Amino acid sequence: MAWRGVVDEFRGRLSRLPADAPAITLLEGDTPLIPAPRLGARIGARLYLKFEGMNPTGSFKDRGMCVAVSGAVATGASAVVCASTGNTSASAAAYACRAGLRCGVVIPDGNIALGKLAQALIHGATVIPIEGNFDDALTIARKLGELESVALVNSVNPLRIEGQKTVAFEIIDALGRVPDVHVMPVGNAGNITAAWLGYTEAVEAYETAGLDGPDRPAMWGAQAAGAAPIVRGEAVASPQTIATAIRIGNPASWQGALDARDSSGGTIESVTDAEILAAYRLLADTEGVFCEPASAAGVALLLQKAGRGEVPADAVIVATLTGHGLKDPDRVVQEIAVPDAVAPDLEVVAERLGL
Ligand code: F0G
Repeated sequence: MAWRGVVDEFRGRLSRLPADAPAITLLEGDTPLIPAPRLGARIGARLYLKFEGMNPTGSFKDRGMCVAVSGAVATGASAVVCASTGNTSASAAAYACRAGLRCGVVIPDGNIALGKLAQALIHGATVIPIEGNFDDALTIARKLGELESVALVNSVNPLRIEGQKTVAFEIIDALGRVPDVHVMPVGNAGNITAAWLGYTEAVEAYETAGLDGPDRPAMWGAQAAGAAPIVRGEAVASPQTIATAIRIGNPASWQGALDARDSSGGTIESVTDAEILAAYRLLADTEGVFCEPASAAGVALLLQKAGRGEVPADAVIVATLTGHGLKDPDRVVQEIAVPDAVAPDLEVVAERLGL
């Protein structure tokens, strides 16, 4: 049977979605779990990449946004609002037009990858850049969400977490077991909270009984060194990183991330921008998988920990790649110079190619 999207595929497990909610869908979910043997060999593990960039708007946000917007329709909202570092706004804008709702997005001016901004604009959202960071934008969006018939669709909306937890179900199905480790970038911390909820519910449903591997994975989270409040144990007033998606100083789901880390025997650590960019390039030029910089933070943490001998030998590890590389093409051309044009001449071209 053809894939029906997250709401209808998992409706029985989305306990917080009103039963009469319509399915607002772009057929999100069912993303590939790609084996990464070369990178895995470097890390000394059996590595799989859950490529959430293959969702309809190019990030994992769609998995939760379809549920949040379905819920907004069920409760009679006429508009959705969010704060965003880019991906949430792209996803909210797409699902809002699918549902016939207005969409307002509040973003930190100048710190949104161009592809994401383009998505919010083309889907007809009202985009409000503010002279502030994501944390300032979220404070405003939370207030807007209190207005009559306005639904806040950031991950502080429990329906976002409901949808995003389904990634754990898909991983267990695809592997036929629970991974030993699940690693991902951490920004506002909704995603690590959601994935942990998914694994917890899978255990409660006895779906993991008798399978190889642990009941639940160790949850490993990666923050950018200049935006690492959870690692430092205090909010960061002015977060800085090239990974703009996770440029967040005071995550809304801070406690959820601590619970996931501590209940799973996991860890949340920081990676430098240089480590993020190295992992970003390695993913693309050794495995052929192009993700956005923030998405590479989890793999950067694996490489860092492997260097310290902290990756269990032959562990089955899943790394979520949260967003597609095409979101942020500017980053590529900042890293790798675009070659100058040459004459349209076979010999010149052949020589340039070294052939
Ligand atoms: N990776 C990408 C590509 C993201 O866009 C985000 C968050 C994260 C990782 C971190 O996930 O916040 O659940 O810990 N982006 C949000 C946004 C903040 O507005 O698009 P998280």
